[in-house]
Amino acid sequence: MAGAAKRIILDTDPGIDDALAILLALASPELNVEALTVVMGNCSTAQGVSNALGVLELAGAGNIPVAPGLDRPLLQPLLTAPETHGHTGLGYAQLPPPRRHPANQHAVDLLIERIMAAPGEITVVAIGPLTNLALAIRREPALLQAICEVVIMGGALRHEGNTTPLAEFNVYVDPHAAHIVYHSGLPLTLVPLDVTYQCILTQADVERLLALDSPITRFIADATRFYMEFHDEYQDIQGCVINDPLALALTFAPDLVETRPLHVTVDTHSPLSLGKTMADFYGAWSKPPNMQVALKVQARRFIELFLERMETLARRLK
Ligand code: RIB
Ligand code: CA
Repeated sequence: MAGAAKRIILDTDPGIDDALAILLALASPELNVEALTVVMGNCSTAQGVSNALGVLELAGAGNIPVAPGLDRPLLQPLLTAPETHGHTGLGYAQLPPPRRHPANQHAVDLLIERIMAAPGEITVVAIGPLTNLALAIRREPALLQAICEVVIMGGALRHEGNTTPLAEFNVYVDPHAAHIVYHSGLPLTLVPLDVTYQCILTQADVERLLALDSPITRFIADATRFYMEFHDEYQDIQGCVINDPLALALTFAPDLVETRPLHVTVDTHSPLSLGKTMADFYGAWSKPPNMQVALKVQARRFIELFLERMETLARRLK
């Protein structure tokens, strides 16, 4: 008999690929989405909260709490990504104003309260800058023993950065928060650009989804159309990289990737390499591994899984 659904909290900066990860979580019976905690990144925290509420309502999951988190990095100036995700954060998609209000609780407090109430039971999927999680573990160090696992979409190890030549966006926005989390002792799995950039959603994939006329498929098409234009113009990629859904998928399909235990850190000082995530592949620093790192991915199998689950969700919400 299948085990109980895995309880997750999604810490997110929705964002187009974040929205796809939220939909994938809602379409996955293996998961129980406890809450969304929102952080600045692709767009402002306030915009991200509205987007999260809107995507949940689009998918008929308006009961899931959305808690606003930090609205700026620990030390760095705020950096958002309108060129990548559009001025609303959801590309060309237009959602009605959400009917619900956000939770009357800060994201850091929700993370602490929910995790400490269920030690060992909650997985945190961090698909935005790590500011909320970093402050949560500073505010309540007992989280280090209470969190079941943390899956992080972030970093670029042997792949070029997408924000500077070296740094990936989530880590670059708040490298100090990333440093706190990387060296916290939490059970971490890192999902870097090295694997996510193999996971390209193509126009043909979107047209397959559109064969099913549904608010879900129309939303995905409108959101990813903007995202594909960005990838074509800035990175000469035909399609769009769906980073966050891959990280989310590892909570129920870990065999999509091959991981390796590595010692990983992040540059928080150098102007040129600020936010660069570094893995000690050859043991030069003689330090123990502090995380599992996904280095290989069955990319097309993941894309097929994503498409199948979006079709199932769309049929449910026709
Ligand atoms: O670098 C990709 C990551 O940064 C993704 O999580 C994307 O949504 C942005 O947050
Ligand atoms: Ca994100």
